[in-house]
Amino acid sequence: MADAVLRSHEQQSLLRFITCGSVDDGKSTLLGRLLYESQLIPEDQLAALKQDSKRVGTRGGEPDFALLVDGLAAEREQGITIDVAYRFFATAKRKFIAADTPGHEQYTRNMVTGASTAQLAVILLDARQGVLTQTRRHTFLASLMGISHLVLAVNKMDLVGYARETFEKLAADYRAFAALLGLKDITAIPLSAVHGDNVVHRGTNMPWYPGPALLEYLEDVVVDEAQAQPFRFPVQWVSRPNADFRGFAGQIVSGTVRPGDPVRVIPGGYESRIARIVTAGGDLAGAQAGQSVTLTLDSQLAVSRGDVLASSDAPPQVARQFEATIIWLHEQPMLQGRTYLLKSQTTTAAATVTPLKHKINVNTLERLPAERLELNDIGVCEIQLDRDLVFEPYAVNRALGGFILIDRLTNNTVGAGLIHFALRRSQNLHWQVLDIDKQARARQKDQRACVLWLTGLSGAGKSTIANRIEQLLTAQGRHTYLLDGDNVRHGLNKDLGFTAQDRVENIRRVAEVAHLMVDAGLMVLVSFISPFRSERRMARDLFAPGEFFEVFIDTPLAEAERRDVKGLYAKARRGELKNFTGIDSPYEIPEKPEIRIDTTTMDAHSAAQWIIERVAAVQRTGDA
Ligand code: ADX
Repeated sequence: MADAVLRSHEQQSLLRFITCGSVDDGKSTLLGRLLYESQLIPEDQLAALKQDSKRVGTRGGEPDFALLVDGLAAEREQGITIDVAYRFFATAKRKFIAADTPGHEQYTRNMVTGASTAQLAVILLDARQGVLTQTRRHTFLASLMGISHLVLAVNKMDLVGYARETFEKLAADYRAFAALLGLKDITAIPLSAVHGDNVVHRGTNMPWYPGPALLEYLEDVVVDEAQAQPFRFPVQWVSRPNADFRGFAGQIVSGTVRPGDPVRVIPGGYESRIARIVTAGGDLAGAQAGQSVTLTLDSQLAVSRGDVLASSDAPPQVARQFEATIIWLHEQPMLQGRTYLLKSQTTTAAATVTPLKHKINVNTLERLPAERLELNDIGVCEIQLDRDLVFEPYAVNRALGGFILIDRLTNNTVGAGLIHFALRRSQNLHWQVLDIDKQARARQKDQRACVLWLTGLSGAGKSTIANRIEQLLTAQGRHTYLLDGDNVRHGLNKDLGFTAQDRVENIRRVAEVAHLMVDAGLMVLVSFISPFRSERRMARDLFAPGEFFEVFIDTPLAEAERRDVKGLYAKARRGELKNFTGIDSPYEIPEKPEIRIDTTTMDAHSAAQWIIERVAAVQRTGDA
């Protein structure tokens, strides 16, 4: 039956909304009642619901609506919801997709996911409890994710005697908070999900309430549609099956398009017109947001993946530096200076967060100074990309203003971001092309520039080996320079300590310095603990293939501690030295170093000779 209703209303408008509330606010009951009373629960699901209610329901055998919405059996027993569940239903007037997300504080990720596609949020609260911390949190997240229409569903009115004053006080409290966020479209509805008042029908218990029932409101509310926005089409790939056809495949993220429409290719700014809208089922006379199509233009323009076809008036912007809000979604904290992969539509770029300006206390909206973002933290930062990005502020276009951050080593999604605006700072800074280049400088020195990156625990023997390498290379007439952690920390990096974020910055700087020195044609030795894979990877990525040698000076912790040349391990064990690598700060072992030296079986001199031979061998093959 539900299928038939859905099918017959395919042409109706669709409302995507998210329901937010804490576990006890009755959110699942409310959603369940919406589905049940609008008679749209598929028969088989209804049967299962009745079965389940007998087994674990809290309503004495009556259908427990919460069970309909809480997906997994394990969660039902706990009485909580732990993921985003999407519910589809339809009435005679409209189709709906409801995203239901859990109310627990730690599930920001789910709420962000559910809210990112929603046009409206239903914020539930318990009439007896009033506006709680989590109510504010949900409202902030909804507003952050670009939802401007909010329904405050004041539930459990039956438990406060359907009192008008209670409702009005709550609604006023809430509006005061929402005003701080600049939210204006707020509709407050008093209801009882358990008894059904003002959910689908108005009922008789609150004659003082003049407004619509929740479902009536959802059926009639006018929201912004992605189709109404300007046309945006990020090009996913260029389709060239034969010499005569050149089309651009992708998904329309906003607006509509018709053959003959003028479009601009961003970046570049060239103008052309849409020739055809090609799909597997034949050409279309028009297409709109959400559809995947292949577009052809009536002139031959250079268009590639990552470009955006846009309506020619008010096209999106291009930049590589932004201010953005970041919502951190991973247990491993976000560190300033670390490089992540940023993905926005069809563009992937290396992104460095620097600096983090502040984080936001989502309960009070207060700005707090911060050095890192922990799981569920929300911060405002500047982001630097390694290439141009076609974008719009998130507030203008969610598709072109939103991005995710990915850890480069694990490929985990670790953050979600919303672009505020471009920073123009480096717009006029270009890389100056010089006539004398790296090759010319190295040739003059009769060598190939490279960097030998020695990593390992404190006291592993890095400096001793690096020192020996430099002596041997100098004796061979090579031009070298040794960057040593202890020494660089006396000058360039004297403002840095040993917290994770300071080490990230320490390595970033020394990698940049090594990069300049390689450009100068030198054979550079870097002797830094460099404990994190991520930063060693960042360093590696600065260099051309064959230039970077990761040399793991492998000394077991017990051995380094036994030697304890500087007496630092003893200090760290006594608790007098914090964040000491190997003791209370991690060392991430290199997975695929070019060279590994086991210092328990090889002395410094042999190690140095071996490393020089390995490098020479690689450089010879590079020559061949
Ligand atoms: S890194 O982790 O940021 O790469 P770096 O190589 O620059 O470290 O500096 C390490 C040196 O600083 C060690 O060899 C040691 O002499 C000294 N040091 C002082 N405090 C610490 C600490 N907490 N952890 C590690 N090394 C420390």
